[in-house]
Amino acid sequence: MALAEFLEDLDELADAAVAAFAAATDPKTLESARIEFLGAKKGRLKTVQKKMGQVDKTDRPAAGKHFNQLKQRIDQAFAAARARLDQGASPARQSKKEPFDPTLPGMSVTLGRRHPITQTIEELKEIMGRLGFHVADGPEIEDAWHNFEALNIPPEHPARDPLENFYLSVAGSNDEPMLLRSQTSTVQIRVMEHTPPPVRIISLGRVYRPDTADATHYPMFHQMEGLLIDTRVTMADLKSVLRMFATSYLGGDVHIRFRPSFFPFTEPSVEVDYQWNDQWIEFGGAGMVDPNVLEAVGYDPEQVTGFAFGLGVERLCMRRHNITDIREFYKNDVRFLHQF
Ligand code: PHE
Repeated sequence: MALAEFLEDLDELADAAVAAFAAATDPKTLESARIEFLGAKKGRLKTVQKKMGQVDKTDRPAAGKHFNQLKQRIDQAFAAARARLDQGASPARQSKKEPFDPTLPGMSVTLGRRHPITQTIEELKEIMGRLGFHVADGPEIEDAWHNFEALNIPPEHPARDPLENFYLSVAGSNDEPMLLRSQTSTVQIRVMEHTPPPVRIISLGRVYRPDTADATHYPMFHQMEGLLIDTRVTMADLKSVLRMFATSYLGGDVHIRFRPSFFPFTEPSVEVDYQWNDQWIEFGGAGMVDPNVLEAVGYDPEQVTGFAFGLGVERLCMRRHNITDIREFYKNDVRFLHQF
C-alpha cells in the first residue's frame, strides 16, 4: 500500500471523527461516536491502524508519525466535546438558555421572629437595667456547692433529693455530683464569689426540675434572679424594687403582697404576689440574703446586707399576654409563636 493512500485514509477519518464529536449534542450520541471511531476492537481508527502493516517498509516510520498526530487530534476533539456536554448540564448553562426575567414576581422570604420568652427576657433586662441592675450569667450544669451548699441547703435537705433534681451521671465523680441547676440562685453565689460588695445584678436563664408537664408546669423553665448587696439594705428596698418592676412590666399601678415563706438562703423569706385583674398571683420567692450565705462567699454579714428574689419568666409572660398553658411555649407551633 502506498504511503499517500494511507495518509489520505487517515486524514479523512480524522476529519469525520472531529465533525462527529463536534456535532454531538448529548452524551448518548457522543458515546456512539466514540465507539465508532475510537472503539478498541472495531473502531475505525483501529481498522486504519491495522492497514499500517501494508504500507511499504521504508514509509512506515512516516506513516506511524502521522498516525500518532491524528490520533492525538481525534482524542482532543473527543475530550473537548465531552467537556462541552458536561458544562451544558450545569445550571449556568441552563440560565443561558433561559435568560433571567426581571418581570417575574420574586420569591418572598418569610421572616421569623424571636421567641416570646426571648422577647420577655430582653424586656426584663431593659427594665431592671433602668433600676441599675447589671446582667450576670452562670452555667446550666452546676455543682452541689453552687446549687445547694453555698445557698445554705444542707445535704439532708429534701431539695437535694435525686427525685427533685436532674443529676447527671456522666459529669463529675460520685463525691462531686453535677446537676442541671434547679434555680438561678446559683448565680448569686458565682457573682459574690468574685465581686466585692456592693452588688446589683440580675440573671436570667433556664432551670430544670423533674416536674410532669401540665398547664402551669414544665420540666424546664426560666427564672429571673435578682441580687442586691450593700450597706443598710432593707426589706422595704426589696418591696420597692419588685413593685417598680411589676408596674413597668405589667403596666398600671400593680400592687404587691409578701407572704411569709421559707428558703434556706434568705431570712426572712417571702412569696411574692402581684395583684392582676383583681386576683393575687404568685410570681416567685424573695427575701433578705441569709448571713450564712454571705459568709459562704466571704462577705462580712456585720458589714453588708442584701436582698434576693427569683421570679418565673414564663409566668410573667403568660400573665402579660393571657397565655393559659405553659406548654404552648415549647411546642414550636408557628401559629402560636407568630402572635408575639
Ligand atoms: N430560688 C428560689 C426558687 O427557685 C426563688 C428565690 C430566689 C427565693 C431568691 C428567694 C430568693 O424557688
